[in-house]
Formats: sequence, structure tokens, C-alpha cells
Amino acid sequence: MFEMASKDAIQLGLGEPDFDPPPVAIEALKKALDDGRSKYSSIFGLPELRQAIAEYCQRYDETITSENVVVTLSGSEALMATAFTFYNKGDEILIPDPGFVFYRPHAQIHGAKPVPFPLKQENAFKPTQDDLLERITSRTKAIIVNFPSNPCGSRVSKEEVRMISDIARDKNLVLITDEVYDQIVYEGKHNSFLGQYENVVFINSFSKTYAMPGWRIGYFVAKEEFVEKLAMMHYYMVACPSTPIQLGVLAAIKHGQEFVDNMLKEFRKRREVMVHEANKVPGFNCLKPEGAFYAFPSYEQDIDDKDLARKIVEAGVICSPGSAFGAHGTKHIRFSYANNTENIKKGMAIVRQVVENL
Ligand SMILES: Cc1ncc(COP(=O)(O)O)c(C=O)c1O
Repeated sequence: MFEMASKDAIQLGLGEPDFDPPPVAIEALKKALDDGRSKYSSIFGLPELRQAIAEYCQRYDETITSENVVVTLSGSEALMATAFTFYNKGDEILIPDPGFVFYRPHAQIHGAKPVPFPLKQENAFKPTQDDLLERITSRTKAIIVNFPSNPCGSRVSKEEVRMISDIARDKNLVLITDEVYDQIVYEGKHNSFLGQYENVVFINSFSKTYAMPGWRIGYFVAKEEFVEKLAMMHYYMVACPSTPIQLGVLAAIKHGQEFVDNMLKEFRKRREVMVHEANKVPGFNCLKPEGAFYAFPSYEQDIDDKDLARKIVEAGVICSPGSAFGAHGTKHIRFSYANNTENIKKGMAIVRQVVENL
């Protein structure tokens, strides 16, 4: 889709904030390079960064210490290390559908079977108890959850966190929770799965929080028994995270909250515009995202979502077909609002025109 687009197409397709990282992080990264901090770090990450991450995570689970934290080369690497650690041939892995595009191949690479559970618009893009229970068999090894959700923008209540954690506990599953959008939540507080069940692997990233997806840095948090195994896989894949990047991120954690607050304020404004404009498109029904920076409207027209997305891209707006995120994403289009309001308005006016001309 991205390659089909013309150079001046409006970008409503990207999964990365359109901001620069906090200046304090850039300065710290530069200083780390100037200071010659170019050696390997510990496998687990720099102690001072692990400590800062542990302190951050104590908002979700006050028992977390730096021993529970491993710094990775991104959320993606943390997800892959988790797959390496827990997935075996013949296992079944419950994955959200629609969901982030790595969950399925990560299972398949290890000979495990991805079992999608639906996130339906009529259920506000959250799974019901039955959606999960119906899909659990004696082979089910793990369940992946991702709230706030990419691509749906949904988040979960405390009760829903409890419901899903209870299922994982009853069925003795590893609960892999991808919370890379935990700081991009528009109303109320983020409800984390961390601390709700012993066998949780909590995955997070700095890509979205500090608008540094190209820095490639994230982390996972788990009980020490899990950390031992996860860290080994992480070590064999990447040895350790980049030392200067870790020092940059450390400065962001210590001094970057205002940056995050401002970014969130801006996303909140854009979300209003995006939802308003999307709902002006005939046949479109766009729920208000509660987190992340994606709108995921459904549409009524009798056209395949890939064909519709292609027409929209040809008309000059980059977007993603819902089915790219799983079969339940069919008849949805994902629009990212990591773009300014003017472009969102312009882009969605083009979408309206495309749909009116179908
Ligand atoms: C839900 C989700 N998880 C994980 C990632 C991976 O992020 P990164 O590898 O940049 O940390 C993304 C990126 O788009 C995402 O949307």
C-alpha cells in the first residue's frame, strides 16, 4: 500500500508518532556517544535503566524490581524472545483478531498454531469470556492481549483485565500482554495485566511513548523464573541492547513526562477530528478510540477492504485494509492519526469522495 502511494500522498497509514523524541533524550544519546559509551551492556540492560523501568512499572505492580526487567531491542524483539521461550510445535496460541501483525508469524515460526479470537466492533473491540473459552483446548499454551489495541484503539476495564487474567490462571496459560500504548490512553488510567496473574509476560516499548521507533528499544517484565529463560533467548538473538540508546531512553524516562503529556494532548485533539471526519463518510461507522492513535471504522459498502484501501491510496491517502490485521478486520479500514489535523481533514475528505464515487 505504502509503495503504491504517490510521493505527496497524505500519510494516514503509519504506526509511529509524527513527533521527534524528547530533546533531553537526544542530548543524552549524543553525550553517551561523546563519552565513549560504545561497549556492550549487560544482557539484561544497564542497571540504572532496569531500575528506572522497574520504578515505572510499580504503578501497575508494586512488587516489581529491576530483577524482573530485561531491556530489549524493541517490543518486537521482546515478543519474539517470548515466542522462542514458550512456543513449541503443536501449541496453540490465542491471538487477537484484528491484531498486531507479528503475533501470527511468531507462532508459526515456532510450529505453533495461532488461534485468533475476535475483537468485534459490537463488543467495543474487546473479547467476551466466551470468545476466549470457546477457543481454549488442552493444547493452548498462551494468550496474547494488546490493550490499547492496534488496530482497534480499544482498552479494557479493570473487570475485563480480571476476567481475562482469571481465564489464563484457570487454564494455566502464559499471558503475554503487549502494552506498548500504555501511555497513550485518553480517559482514565491505563489498566495493566501486570501484577494480575503470576504467569504474565508484560511487553512494552519506547517506540510510541517517546516517538523513537527507529531507536529500537523496549523491554519485558516477568517473574524471575521467566526472566531467566526469556533473557537467554534474548541473549542468543541480540546479545544486549545498544548502550548509547539505553542512556538516551533513561533520560527520557527521567525527564520526558511533559513530552508524553503534550503528545497525548495533541493526539486527543486529532482523535476528535478523525472520528468526526470518518463518521461523515457514507456507510462508515467509527467508534471513538480509547487509546493508541488509530481509528478503525467499519463500512457498509459491498467492496473488499483491500480493494477499498487500494482505491483510497490511489486517490492520495495512505491507509491500511482491516484484513491486514486478521480475518475479523475485513470490512474495516485503519487510519492512523499520527498526522496533523489539516492533513487528517484533507485526507478524510478524499476518502469521502472515493466512497461517494463507488
Ligand atoms: C501492538 C504493537 N506491539 C508491538 C509493536 C512493536 O513496536 P516496536 O518493535 O517498535 O517496539 C507495535 C508497533 O507498531 C505495535 O503496534
